[in-house]
Amino acid sequence: MEETFAALAADAVFITLPNNPTGFELSREEWDQLVALCGRYGKLLIVDCTFRFFSRQPFWDQYELLEKAKISYLMVEDTGKTWPTQDLKCSILAMSEDLADDMLELHNDILLNVSPFILKLLTEYVKDTMREGLQSVIWNTIDRNRETLREAIRSSGLAVSNPGSTISVEWLRILDAGVRSVDMVDRLQRLGLGILPGDHFHWYDHGQGERYIRIALARSPDMFADACEVLKSAITANGKDSM
Ligand SMILES: Cc1ncc(COP(=O)(O)O)c(C=O)c1O
Repeated sequence: MEETFAALAADAVFITLPNNPTGFELSREEWDQLVALCGRYGKLLIVDCTFRFFSRQPFWDQYELLEKAKISYLMVEDTGKTWPTQDLKCSILAMSEDLADDMLELHNDILLNVSPFILKLLTEYVKDTMREGLQSVIWNTIDRNRETLREAIRSSGLAVSNPGSTISVEWLRILDAGVRSVDMVDRLQRLGLGILPGDHFHWYDHGQGERYIRIALARSPDMFADACEVLKSAITANGKDSM
C-alpha cells in the first residue's frame, strides 16, 4: 500500500469495501493503514460502503477513525443492496466537514426530494432487521444460494473466484480461454437466466473482466435453486465448448 501511495499522482483514492463483485475487504489494521497513508500523502479518501451489511467482520466505528485522523473523506452508504425491495432505497453521503459546502451544493443541484413514505418504509425494514438479526434476515439466504450455486457449477467450466466472499453476488471465472463472458451471458439469457458479464467491472481494461461472470444471490432460494438446475444442465448438456 505504501508503494502505491508514494507513486500516486491522483488526488483521491476511491475504494469499494466490501468490493462488488469480488467481496474483497480490508481488516481493521488495513483500514488504519489506508487512512494514515491518505493523511500522510494528502489524498481524499472515498469509500463506497454500499455492501457493508454483507460483511461478517465485527462492526467497528469507521467514522471515529476517519474523524480522529482528520483526513478529507467521503463515504457512500446505501440501503439498496441490503433491502432491495422494488428499487426502494435511501443513500447517504457522509463526509468530512471541509467538503460539506461544496457537496451540499452539488447534492441540491441533483436531488430534488426523497419521499417520506419510502424513508418510513425503509426504517421499518431496518428495524425489522435489528429485531431479527442480519443472519436470519439477510445472510441465511445469501449463504444458502451461494452453496446451491457452488454445488451446481462443481466440475464445470466455471470456477469460484473468491471462495471467502460473503457479499450478495458470486464472481465466477470462465476456465475455457475460448469462451467470452458476453457469449455466456447471451447463451444463458436464451435459457431464461439473467447474469452479468464481467467486462465492465474492470473499468480501465474490459479485457480483464472478459474471463468472468457475476451472479446475483439475493433471490428467493426456491427460484434460485430452479435457476441453478437450468445452469447445471446447460453446462452439462452442452459442455464447456459451447458455453
Ligand atoms: C458498489 C456499488 N455502489 C453503488 C452502486 C449503485 O447502486 P444504485 O444503482 O442502486 O444506485 C452499485 C451498483 O451496483 C455498486 O455495486
